[in-house]
Amino acid sequence: MNAKTTLTHEAILGAQQRTPSWRVEDLIGGERQLDFTKSFMPEGLAGVESLPFLNRDQRRTLNQIRGHEYLSIFGLVEEFILPFVLDHARPRLRDDDHRVRALLQFAGEEAKHIQLFKRFREEFEAGFAQRCEVIGPPEDVAREVLSKPALSVALVTLQIEWMSQRHYLESVSDDGSLDPQFKSLLRHHWMEEAQHAQLDTLVVEELAASCSETEREQALQGYLEVGTFLDAGLKQQAELDLASLERAAGRVLDPESRWEFLTQQHQAMRWTYLGSGMTHPRFLQALESIGPRARATIAEITPTFC
Ligand SMILES: [Fe+2]
Ligand SMILES: [Fe+2]
Repeated sequence: MNAKTTLTHEAILGAQQRTPSWRVEDLIGGERQLDFTKSFMPEGLAGVESLPFLNRDQRRTLNQIRGHEYLSIFGLVEEFILPFVLDHARPRLRDDDHRVRALLQFAGEEAKHIQLFKRFREEFEAGFAQRCEVIGPPEDVAREVLSKPALSVALVTLQIEWMSQRHYLESVSDDGSLDPQFKSLLRHHWMEEAQHAQLDTLVVEELAASCSETEREQALQGYLEVGTFLDAGLKQQAELDLASLERAAGRVLDPESRWEFLTQQHQAMRWTYLGSGMTHPRFLQALESIGPRARATIAEITPTFC
């Protein structure tokens, strides 16, 4: 039915062990400060240059607000990924030593990423003049996502892992204009997420193989519901980002500019947090383990998020 991956837990554990290890405090704090004269996010994700009613300083400010939002949204999703990985590992502790070790390293790294994003947010809040509100709280988002079938959550997680790979490789790695600390965060996160994406591919395949056809269809439905739920959160986040920009810039946009801002920024967020993952070739390949219609179903809705 599907083109199964040839990945093994032993090979992924080997790759995890070869990835240079790093600590949160190696990336931020002390002399490692955010430089607020620079952009934090690549333009391909932030999409601030196509807002003609903002001047250059206001675009950079919005870019930084989007950076804070990226820290917050990733912090938010990592908070459901961590319990999901632990719940997946727990009943399988005796099956395969490589799998247990790879999954626990995956969980340990996600706990570190949660702390990493929190530390960067603290630095941001210390250096940015105004408060920036974000959607949440993470516990509520986690409760909603984790109420879906495990295979739905595995698919959402896999999409997020591949999306983080695409963000770095396509938008960040060659961008010399970004703040060095923020770029370093994105690079170090990408390094560890590469193995998470592979591990989660195996999680999806394992869960799909243990589900009936009906359960796989329910899992696809659950995945789509999480996407709708997250998209509603992004729409709300665009409004919060607008409020943050207006506070920071000390100006209120006219109604037409507000409408343009909200439409354009919501679409930029859709690409950042949904479209860039759901169109990733490796995610599409993994969908084949769900069933013959899964890929076509996703392909039908992707234009909305790209
Ligand atoms: Fe992560
Ligand atoms: Fe991850």
